[in-house]
Amino acid sequence: MVMYVSLLWFFLVGLCPISVPDSIPIGMFRTECHDRHFWLSVNSNFLGNKFRFEVQADSKFREVSGQWAAECGYTMALDSWGDLLLRVSYLACLVENQMETKFQLLVWFRNQDSNGKEKSYPLLLTCPLQVPWSPRELVCEQNYMEVSVLKLLPPDNHIGTAWVTPAPVELGEGLLEWRVVFRIPALSQGGGMREETVPVRLAHLLGYHINTTDSRVLLRCAYGSKMAYMLQWGETDVEVVSATILYKLKWTLLTVDMSVACTIGQARMDGSDVLWSLPRDLPTLVHPPFIEKGLKLGVGGRYLSECVAHQRGYMIHNNNRTLELRIPFGAEGGFIKSHVIDGFYSQSYFVDVFLLREWEDTAWSLTQQRIFRAIFIHHLPRPVTLINKTVPSQSEFAISLCCFPHDVSLGNVTVAGQRVLWKEMEWKGVHLSQIPFPNNTYMYLFQMPFSHSLIPQKYLGDRFRRYTLYGVFSFILFPGGEIYNHSATVVAELQDVVLPKLKGECTARGVRTLAYYGNIESSEWSLYVGGMKVDWELVELGGFSLDPHELYLSLEVPLYAPGMAYEGLGLQGLLVSVLVSLVHLETAEEQTHVQRCVFPVRELLVCLPDGRMVVMVDTAGVSPPVNPNHTALLDPACRPLETDNSRAIFSFSIDSCGTVATHDGDQMIYRNEVRNMPPFPPHLRLLSQPQPHYRVSLGCFHPENGSRTLAIYLPSQSPTLIPEHTRHPEDRDKKIHSLPAGG
Ligand SMILES: *[C@@H]1O[C@H](CO)[C@@H](O)[C@H](O)[C@H]1NC(C)=O
Ligand SMILES: *[C@@H]1O[C@H](CO)[C@@H](O)[C@H](O)[C@H]1NC(C)=O
Ligand SMILES: *[C@@H]1O[C@H](CO)[C@@H](O)[C@H](O)[C@H]1NC(C)=O
Ligand SMILES: *[C@@H]1O[C@H](CO)[C@@H](O)[C@H](O)[C@H]1NC(C)=O
Ligand SMILES: *[C@@H]1O[C@H](CO)[C@@H](O)[C@H](O)[C@H]1NC(C)=O
Ligand SMILES: *[C@@H]1O[C@H](CO)[C@@H](O)[C@H](O)[C@H]1NC(C)=O
Ligand SMILES: *[C@@H]1O[C@H](CO)[C@@H](O)[C@H](O)[C@H]1NC(C)=O
Ligand SMILES: *[C@@H]1O[C@H](CO)[C@@H](O)[C@H](O)[C@H]1NC(C)=O
Repeated sequence: MVMYVSLLWFFLVGLCPISVPDSIPIGMFRTECHDRHFWLSVNSNFLGNKFRFEVQADSKFREVSGQWAAECGYTMALDSWGDLLLRVSYLACLVENQMETKFQLLVWFRNQDSNGKEKSYPLLLTCPLQVPWSPRELVCEQNYMEVSVLKLLPPDNHIGTAWVTPAPVELGEGLLEWRVVFRIPALSQGGGMREETVPVRLAHLLGYHINTTDSRVLLRCAYGSKMAYMLQWGETDVEVVSATILYKLKWTLLTVDMSVACTIGQARMDGSDVLWSLPRDLPTLVHPPFIEKGLKLGVGGRYLSECVAHQRGYMIHNNNRTLELRIPFGAEGGFIKSHVIDGFYSQSYFVDVFLLREWEDTAWSLTQQRIFRAIFIHHLPRPVTLINKTVPSQSEFAISLCCFPHDVSLGNVTVAGQRVLWKEMEWKGVHLSQIPFPNNTYMYLFQMPFSHSLIPQKYLGDRFRRYTLYGVFSFILFPGGEIYNHSATVVAELQDVVLPKLKGECTARGVRTLAYYGNIESSEWSLYVGGMKVDWELVELGGFSLDPHELYLSLEVPLYAPGMAYEGLGLQGLLVSVLVSLVHLETAEEQTHVQRCVFPVRELLVCLPDGRMVVMVDTAGVSPPVNPNHTALLDPACRPLETDNSRAIFSFSIDSCGTVATHDGDQMIYRNEVRNMPPFPPHLRLLSQPQPHYRVSLGCFHPENGSRTLAIYLPSQSPTLIPEHTRHPEDRDKKIHSLPAGG
C-alpha cells in the first residue's frame, strides 16, 4: 500500500521582508506528506555549488544543519540518485502544529550557482495527519531517535503510566519543572544500572529535546548523546536511551517511560543478499508478552506491497530475536554504481529503506516504530560471468557476458589484438546484441563465425580442427568513462576439415600430379615426390613444373627426372611410377598417391641395383635384316625374353650370360652384348661360328663395394663403347638418368 499522500504543495506569496523569493522552477521540487514527515526533495540537476535549507518561523530564519537539525527533527541527505532530500518530523521544532491534525512549515531552499549568485525558493509545506497517532511512536532516523507518547490525563488508568502518590516533590505546572530519569549502565556495580535524575533544563543541555504538545510528550536526541549507551544484540549494535519523564498534571505526578533504541549496525553481504538486522524484542522497548501487529517495508520513501517486495526478492524474517531484512544485491528500488579497481569490475549498491513495525505489549496498547536507513555496500567485486554458448556445428562462437547495470556499456571488442570495427561487423558475420532482464540488468551476446580471419585455426588430425577466439571486451563506465577490459579465450573443435586430394595423369613429357586444395591452409602441408621434399632446388634440378591453379596445384615430373621410379621395361614401353605425398607438418598425417605411366621406347638399357641388366634392342633398319628371335647374349643360350617383329628384350644377371666383369678404379664394369645368332642348319653344325654382323655392346657400372644404383642408358651410349684407355670419367654419365627402382 502506498501511504504517501499527494502532496500539498503550495506557494508563498512574497510576504517575506528579508528574502526575495525567486519563481519556482517546474519539476525541480517534489513535496509529499508521509505518515509522520514532510518530505521534500530537490532534483540533483538543480543543485548548485552550494545550497542549504532554512526554516522560517515568524521573521526568524534557522539553517537546517548539524546538531540542531538532529535535535529538532530535521534530516537532510542526498539520496541514491543524488537528489537532495529533506525529511521533517511533524513534531519537529518550528513546525506549526494545528490541533495535532494539521502541520505546516515554511522552508526556504537557497541555491548558489557557479557565479556565486544565490537564489531563494520559499516552500510552504502543509500536511494533514493521515494516520492517527498511536499511544507510543518511535522513530529511528538517520541522524536522530525520537519517541512520543500519549499524554495521559488522570484518572484514565493506563499501563505504562503510573500514579505516584504522594508526590515526592512539589512541582510546578510548567515544563521547566519536569524531571528526566536516565538509566545508564553502572561502571562500578558489575553490570547493574544506575539512575540519574536531571531537571529538564539540564536534559536540554545534554542534547535532549523534550517538549509537550496538547496530547503528547516528546523526547528526541541525536545519536551518541550523553546518557545513551550501546548494546550488542545478536549480531547488531543498538544504541539505547533509557529514560523516564516525571511530569505533573493537575494534582498528580505522572511518570512515563520515554525509552528509545535504534540499531546502528551496518548492513553486510550474506551470500548474494544485503543483510541488515535489527532487534525484534529489545527489553528496553518491548514489554513481553508482545504481539506483532504489522510490518511494512518501503524503499525510497514508498511502501512496497507484498507482491512487489516479493517480485524484487526483498525478504524480512524473524531469526531468533532479530529481524532480518534481506535485499538481493542490485535489486530494483536501489541504485547500482559500477567501478573498475585494479582492473577488476565491482559494484556499489545503495538503497534507502524504511520499516514500519507495530506491536502490542503489556505497557502499550500500540507502539509504532518507524525506521529509516540508507543501506550501502561499497565496491563489491562482481565477476562478469562469461557463458560459452558455442555450438560447434553452427560454425560460430556464441558467448554471453552477464550481467551489467545501465551505467556500463560495451565499447570495443578486440579479437586477436585487432579491434573489430562496428561498421564491418555485420558483413563479416559478427553480431552483438544486448538482452535486457526484468531485474534491470542486461547481458551481451557476441557471435563471430569460425571462418573470420581473426579466428586462428589449428588442424588436430582426423579431420578435426580447433578454432580459438582471443577476445578482449572493453566496457565503458558512465559517467566517469573508466574502461573495464574483460578477456576471454574460447575454443571450439569441429570435424569440418576437407583434406587435400591427389590425382595423377600421364602426359607426353612425364607424370603429372594434381593436389586439390582442402579447406585448411596449404602452407600446413609439405609436398614430397618419391620421398624427397619438394623445394625449389629440387624443382629446378628435376625440371619439374609446379603451377598453382584455382582449385589445385599441379606438379609435373618429367620422364627420367628424380622422383620417378622404374617399375619395369616391356615391349609396351618403360613403366615408371611417381609417388607423391602430402604430409601435415604438425600431425604428420599423410595423403599419398602413386601414378604409373608407360612411355613407349624402342631401345633402352637398364642397370638395376639388384645386379640385373634389362635391355631392349631394335633391329629395324639393320642390313642384312636380323630376326629378333635370333639374337642372343655373349652366352648364346641367353635368348630374348620377349620379341616383336623388330625388338628383343633381355633380362639377365651380371653374373650370368657370359657377362665380363672388370675393375675400373673403385668401380666394376660389367659388359655383355646382344648379337645376331641365327640357328645353323644341322649340316653346318661342325663348322666354326661366323662373326655375327649385328652386335650391340652393353655395359653397367657398379661400385666394387657398396650399394648399387639404377641407371638407364640408350644402348648406343652405354659406357662399353668407349675404349678403356680413352674413356673419360664423365662418360659414365651418359646415362639418361638415375631412376630409383620401383616395386
Ligand atoms: C515546545 O513546544 C512549544 C509549543 O508546544 C513551543 O512553543 C516551544 O518552542 C517548544 N520548545 C522547543 C525547545 O522547541
Ligand atoms: C537465540 O539468541 C540467543 C541470544 O542472542 C542465543 O543464546 C540462542 O542460542 C539463539 N537461539 C537460536 C535457536 O539461535
Ligand atoms: C538479473 O537477472 C539475471 C537473469 O535472470 C541473473 O543472472 C542476474 O544474477 C540478476 N542480477 C541481479 C543483480 O539480480
Ligand atoms: C574504442 O576504440 C577507439 C579507437 O581505438 C577508442 O577511441 C575508444 O576509446 C575505445 N573505447 C573503449 C570503450 O575502449
Ligand atoms: C583494454 O584493452 C584494449 C584492447 O586490448 C587496450 O587497447 C586498452 O589499453 C585496455 N585498457 C585498459 C584500461 O586495460
Ligand atoms: C566452449 O564451448 C565449446 C563447445 O561446446 C567447448 O568445446 C569448449 O570447451 C567450451 N569452453 C571454452 C572455455 O572454450
Ligand atoms: C619369333 O618366334 C615367335 C615364336 O616362335 C614367332 O611367333 C614369331 O613370329 C617370330 N618372329 C619373327 C620375326 O620371326
Ligand atoms: C672391397 O672389399 C674387398 C674385400 O672386403 C677389399 O679387398 C677391397 O679392397 C675393397 N675395395 C674397395 C675399393 O674398397
